[in-house]
Amino acid sequence: MKKGKNILVGVCAGIASYKTCELVRLLVKGGYSVKVVMTEAAAKFVSPLVFQALSNNPVYTDMFSLDRREGVEHISLADWPDLCVIAPLTANTLSKIAGGICDNLLTTVVCAFSDKVNVLLVPAMNEKMWQNKIIQDNADKLRRLGKYMIMPPEKGELACGACGDGRMPEPEEIFEKITEKLKN
Ligand SMILES: Cc1cc2nc3c(=O)[nH]c(=O)nc-3n(C[C@H](O)[C@H](O)[C@H](O)COP(=O)(O)O)c2cc1C
Repeated sequence: MKKGKNILVGVCAGIASYKTCELVRLLVKGGYSVKVVMTEAAAKFVSPLVFQALSNNPVYTDMFSLDRREGVEHISLADWPDLCVIAPLTANTLSKIAGGICDNLLTTVVCAFSDKVNVLLVPAMNEKMWQNKIIQDNADKLRRLGKYMIMPPEKGELACGACGDGRMPEPEEIFEKITEKLKN
């Protein structure tokens, strides 16, 4: 079932990005082919080298790389996956996707997906950011489009020390959601 399925993992600059390492490990162990696209800011949190080692594939961060591996990279990457999961999804990137902004490799790839690509968004942020009406409106806009599935953040301890709604679900839960989605 899982064999031959391609998963593109998008990583944004959130503190929960350390959990995405475990998600990539679970996906590879589960038999999926995995490629990782990071925002430039995400590379300040977790080294691309970690994702490269865990995914057994090059990691993509640079829209304007001179070291082109696959033609027009944002298009070949957009054509590749059966499913894209973005975890953690920052308030910033959520809003960019909702607004059709393409100012880095990740947002450009997402914009270039065909309707066949399932997109699972896993926002994680401070509770006040998640409750911000602009962010909620942008999340609702994405939900309404039908193509984007949002796994809402959970209540729990946040990186800023507060306790609230904003915590990224555990990698195992995200893995289960992906497996379930690809069964259909
Ligand atoms: C220590 C630290 C933790 C952060 N955690 C989050 C977070 O969990 N969620 C979020 O939306 N932004 C978080 N930010 C802010 C983002 O990094 C910032 O908005 C950044 O521009 C997002 O870039 P990106 O969306 O291109 O990855 C954090 C910033 C710092 C310095």
